[in-house]
Amino acid sequence: MLASNPIFPFDKPAVYSALTEEPVYDAAIHLDLEKPTNIELMAEFGYNQEDIDASPSPMAVAGPFRILSNAGVAAAKVVLDQLRDTAESDEGNRAPNYLAGGVYKSKFLRDLCACPVLIKHMSEIAGTSLAAHSIPHQQLYVNFAPEDISKAVDSWHIDSIDYDCVILLEDPKSFEGGHFQYFRGTDSQAAEVFGTTTDKLAEGFPVDLPNDRVVSVQKSQPGDAVFQQGSRVVHRAEKLHKPAERTTLVISYVARNANLDDLNNVAEMIRWKHPGTSAELARHCAWRSQARLASLIEELPIDSSANEVVKNLKFAIDDVQKLIGLLEK
Ligand SMILES: [Fe+2]
Repeated sequence: MLASNPIFPFDKPAVYSALTEEPVYDAAIHLDLEKPTNIELMAEFGYNQEDIDASPSPMAVAGPFRILSNAGVAAAKVVLDQLRDTAESDEGNRAPNYLAGGVYKSKFLRDLCACPVLIKHMSEIAGTSLAAHSIPHQQLYVNFAPEDISKAVDSWHIDSIDYDCVILLEDPKSFEGGHFQYFRGTDSQAAEVFGTTTDKLAEGFPVDLPNDRVVSVQKSQPGDAVFQQGSRVVHRAEKLHKPAERTTLVISYVARNANLDDLNNVAEMIRWKHPGTSAELARHCAWRSQARLASLIEELPIDSSANEVVKNLKFAIDDVQKLIGLLEK
């Protein structure tokens, strides 16, 4: 079952202000879409068939490949120059200098995330139908270089969302280190090295993984990106060797296949306490349940037993029930 495209909320969290002067997004001007020549599959990382079947598609990582044109990079920088003083620092092990809520703060960024041309392109690469993320604060993060370069730009972790692309805005020749890196292995293997469990991997680990299984992605120009099934790929942005500008736009997508268990880590997102999270998660879970209920209305056989009906109804509202349990804690 494919859920319809999620609806962007009519309101925004009160703490966010929207830019009043910014470039107007235009896919014809701001995109320069390439197809990646390198696509790595979950099976190549060591995932078993059960894990692959539980994922919206078998893709693990794709890229590097170009997404933004020179004009797209320049326009994004005009926007981020105005938003930079709203950047935050994670209190734990993750990103020391990041911007959240970008789609509420900038119409340019919101339109980039919702761009049907870009979503179609990314869906084709992923091998499954995607939509602009149903949890708006997840649609776009920006990672700036940390002021203290002894810290990784973002330490080893998995994402709490299905799919995301990481777009570099600077010329990769303008800084040393700072590569996007991924672990060619499973989440369980990384968790074992970190001495933790897979459900904790989103928290971030400043620990080294075996070098021979770490891939450093060498991008060639501003606007280049890596695309990944972020909840299945352990990755980081490594330390810079010298202070330098290094900015990435991280755009997330949600899989429209609502039949699978939700790979978005709703419990983790509640912990982050981003403004508006409870209402955003309610919309996300309602969106998934709506698709399952629509399917039930159309497909439930007329002679289903009471037990079968209960099973189907529980499945349809499972995400809503789980969220109620998490928010009541
Ligand atoms: Fe990430």
